[in-house]
Amino acid sequence: MSNNASLSRQILVTSALPYANGSIHLGHLLEYIQTDIWVRFQKSRGHECHYVCADDAHGTAIMLRAEQEGLTPEQLIQKVSDEHQADFARFGVAFDNYHSTHSEENRAHSERIYRALRDAGHISTRDIEQMFDPVKGMFLADRFIKGTCPKCGTADQYGDNCEACGATYTPAELINPVSAISGATPEVRTSTHYFFKLPDFEDFLKRWTRSGRVQPQIANKLQEWFDAGLNEWDISRDAPYFGFEIPDAPGKYFYVWLDAPIGYLASFQNLCEREGLDFDSYWKADSDAEVYHFIGKDIVYFHALFWPAMLEGAGMRTPSGINCHGFVTVNGAKMSKSRGTFIKAQTYAEHLNPEYLRYYFAAKLSSRVDDLDLNLEDFAARVNADLVGKVVNIASRCAGFINKLAGGQLSAQCAEPELIARFIAAGDEIAADFEAREFGRAMRRIMELADEANTYIADQAPWVLAKEGGREQEVIDICSVGINLFRTLMVYLQPVVPAMAEQARHFLQLDSLDWASRQQVLEDHAIGKFKPLMTRVESDKIAAMIEASKEVLAEEKKLTDGGDARPAGPSPLAETPIADEIAFGDFLKVDLRIAEIQRAEYVEGSNKLLKLTLDLGGETRTVFSGIRKVYAPEALEGRLTVMVANLAPRKMRFGVSEGMVLAAGDAPDQKDAGIYLLSPDSGAQPGSRVT
Ligand code: MSP
Ligand code: ZN
Repeated sequence: MSNNASLSRQILVTSALPYANGSIHLGHLLEYIQTDIWVRFQKSRGHECHYVCADDAHGTAIMLRAEQEGLTPEQLIQKVSDEHQADFARFGVAFDNYHSTHSEENRAHSERIYRALRDAGHISTRDIEQMFDPVKGMFLADRFIKGTCPKCGTADQYGDNCEACGATYTPAELINPVSAISGATPEVRTSTHYFFKLPDFEDFLKRWTRSGRVQPQIANKLQEWFDAGLNEWDISRDAPYFGFEIPDAPGKYFYVWLDAPIGYLASFQNLCEREGLDFDSYWKADSDAEVYHFIGKDIVYFHALFWPAMLEGAGMRTPSGINCHGFVTVNGAKMSKSRGTFIKAQTYAEHLNPEYLRYYFAAKLSSRVDDLDLNLEDFAARVNADLVGKVVNIASRCAGFINKLAGGQLSAQCAEPELIARFIAAGDEIAADFEAREFGRAMRRIMELADEANTYIADQAPWVLAKEGGREQEVIDICSVGINLFRTLMVYLQPVVPAMAEQARHFLQLDSLDWASRQQVLEDHAIGKFKPLMTRVESDKIAAMIEASKEVLAEEKKLTDGGDARPAGPSPLAETPIADEIAFGDFLKVDLRIAEIQRAEYVEGSNKLLKLTLDLGGETRTVFSGIRKVYAPEALEGRLTVMVANLAPRKMRFGVSEGMVLAAGDAPDQKDAGIYLLSPDSGAQPGSRVT
């Protein structure tokens, strides 16, 4: 492969636009880091590559969030945009432009594309019935309605699916529905909506899907959607809505997901104006430029169906590729607020070097859509072994000798031209891996080279030669080879760890670490003083980050995002540890009995316990129970409950507890929600067995 300028490509790259109502977390960062590495690689190869992004600023969620914080939506999105950009900068994610979907460029492109679709007959209108909040004076999306599940009777479920039994339904089917915003009982009202006629594009989309623009796993998913049949897409929302009004349709606004992908165009337009680039040469129907969208697997429908159809319908080019990645899990599980594994970008950066994460993600990424587990022990081990143990080690072993024995000057003639030539040649395969988004494979090749370099140095043992007088030139020659090998590795790693590469560039006193620069072997070249380029990951920092994540999120209010058309995620119940399945015989070993609370008393010296005297139909038991916080003793006396009667007696500081009463604890989603003692229906007798 060559870097011939005549082969230079024009490439436009995007990452999904983060919602303007939440912080960037490690899940998001997988996407931005993956994209940034690919972009930096393309730039290193000498291609013209532009990387644009923006905040996704419209929608009901953002409107309500602003109201809750006492801000205008414009103030909120400005504040969040500043935070997002600071987070991205910390992680070395270097956009060429960061814009907002709430911008004049985006309004203009949205109107233009909408008019083109409408004039070509791809927009229809019809009346739909929807829940309306009479207090707020607004229509309610399904997730803003709560009520009792019609299938299992669990209270307080959202309008589209039940977290307890998994049933899906329409909000109209909920029992006792209420608006989650005002608490009012919603009414059904009719309103005219605008639809994008996606089925018009079925043949086009099938061809498009088969033209190699999506990964095989995604093509299969799209086939399922084709088989299920495409539907018209509701692209309008009624006022009040934070967004753009639809042309010639007063009071009707573009649904946030209509103008969100158009935000890619808007951000690029903004860049073109600033840098004098030609927008149309990238977006006209027969453009030779390449356009790639990096996205997560939850937003494929929008990017692989709606978006190409919109562009096609508006007479523009369609993306060269949709590059989809999986979801981040931490220590094998969905990121969890209670476990402290829902880690914000900022919290991470306060504790750990962002380049550790960039390397770890790179080492685990492939071109597939699979989920990626951030196992924190593996993370520390991998970064320490590879970056610190292998790569930095090469330079730190060699630099001292060069500085001490040769005044910082590398040998005039390279002692191992073949070894160095092999390192340089390996750049072709490594480049092919980067190009194909097989970053894990690229990292493995680079680390194999690093092993080779370390083996070479260990075999030559310059530190032994240095002690024998008169062999200084040999030492300098060996270490000069080492420095050259290190330089080649830093060229390959630059897209992944740009900050470390920048320090290495200073140390090597080079103008550039671009891909082609590696061809020039460093001979008779002066290097600078060596400073450690990266320190080891310390496990106490990881522990502190987890602790801090627990605190940060405890303070936060729970707010849903704007992604209402997405598949529902797994139930939060999945995060609560649930005991293993047991045999019926095991269950029968538990002697559950109805008990009458004869007496309930405070326990001196304990602010948690109550001492209960229980009647089991003639037999009495003393039980200490941790329910003082929520029950006054006098309220309990005379009341029936359920107890485990054959629990081995337990000696406590205040006496012996002869069993246990049963109570429901915290709700899965809320902490410290309370304790609810079980009680049987009336008629149950003290002492009866519970089965
Ligand atoms: N605003 C929309 C995208 C509009 S693009 C025209 C959105 N925003 S988001 O903030 O929810 O997500 C931004 C990106 O981060 C998406 O590609 C999403 O898939 C990705 N991720 C969010 N959480 C993630 C993980 N836990 N793991 C990996 N990627 C994740 O969707
Ligand atoms: Zn249910």
